Amino acid sequence: MGLLSKLNNVAKTRQALFPTGVDPLNVVIDEIYSSTEASFGGQRVLLAGTNNYLGLTFDQQCIDAAREALLKEGTGTTGSRMANGTYAGHRALEQELANFYGCSHAIVFSTGFVANLGAISTLAGVGDVIVLDADSHASIYDACKMSGAEMIRFRHNSLADLEKKLQRLGSRAAKTLIIVEGIYSMLGDCAPLAEIAALKRKYGAWLMVDEAHSMGVLGNQGRGMAEAAGVERDVDFIVGTFSKSLGAIGGFCVSNHPELDLIRYVCRSYVFTASPSPSTIASVRAALRVIQAKPELRTKLWENSAQLYQGLKQLGFELGPNVSPIVAIRMPTKEMTLLAWKALLDRGIYVNLVFPPAAPAGMSLLRCSVSAAHTSEQIDIVLQAFAELQPLAKTSG
Ligand SMILES: Cc1ncc(COP(=O)(O)O)c(C=O)c1O
Repeated sequence: MGLLSKLNNVAKTRQALFPTGVDPLNVVIDEIYSSTEASFGGQRVLLAGTNNYLGLTFDQQCIDAAREALLKEGTGTTGSRMANGTYAGHRALEQELANFYGCSHAIVFSTGFVANLGAISTLAGVGDVIVLDADSHASIYDACKMSGAEMIRFRHNSLADLEKKLQRLGSRAAKTLIIVEGIYSMLGDCAPLAEIAALKRKYGAWLMVDEAHSMGVLGNQGRGMAEAAGVERDVDFIVGTFSKSLGAIGGFCVSNHPELDLIRYVCRSYVFTASPSPSTIASVRAALRVIQAKPELRTKLWENSAQLYQGLKQLGFELGPNVSPIVAIRMPTKEMTLLAWKALLDRGIYVNLVFPPAAPAGMSLLRCSVSAAHTSEQIDIVLQAFAELQPLAKTSG
């Protein structure tokens, strides 16, 4: 009954993952060959679970920019944004993000997780209310807890439930921040953002959209769900990450509210953590140029997404509600998910294994994510491996 006894349950859960002989939540990549291929345990695998939506981790312009910054500015900043960790590159990236979104203000953070943690917990506080989608990312939940604001969840993507919660708040809606995601990270489904923005206007609340999985993916210019839904002017704050479409690490928040700039002075996850390294910033700046210059990457991403989604559907697997670069296969049981995950790995395919609480509503998922860097032949190889798992699909539902 000592301090560490709470970890006994973790040990039990971990043990239950081992029948396949591989710990699926502790996979080590020995060598990475490209944005779609790597090796694990001496075996070459096709990566179909990376969030590398545009394949930019191996983009030559990003690599060249990172290399140049590394040689010129060193390996790290060794300081927080508030102290010695703001270089000209950080400021330039903020300006470029603001320009990209057509917003007046942008802040760069060290990761998307701390962007959410910092922005949300600083913008909302005691006496305020946060109304969030029940399937929100862990960083949003943690931020809500940290903020001290009252936290009210609405049923995932339910406009009726959101409206009911806003109605009940009455005049408190003016101190309420609604938080949703553009594309949800586990099932790949989209927020009905046009309707959510209409409710935000109707009740006079504030709106934040986490575009982690939709930046570079949705919208004519790749700005995300707010652009795709035509409601950018209604979105008060957009948060995002550099760790998916932009192929690096870091996070950001953009807004037209000048107050965003003030949070730099009080936001603990901005003030008390080191800033992204110069090479990271340089590669993100290059990636931002690439996503604007090469809309064909988005076209290819959606072609690949449709190929995988339709192919899996034809095989009889139970999928999320819409075509998306995140294609999640809902499996009947944890045990089957584990066996199917290992069977795919044995066939040279890596996908993500997702159990609750990371997966919503108690689901067990094999989560694929598609990249613009995948060839159509690679998607066919993934489909072929799933076809060999079809007996499991037949029992799903
Ligand atoms: C919706 C959402 N927000 C934020 C994050 C955190 O991003 P990062 O990896 O940059 O910390 C993630 C990452 O998985 C995410 O899915």
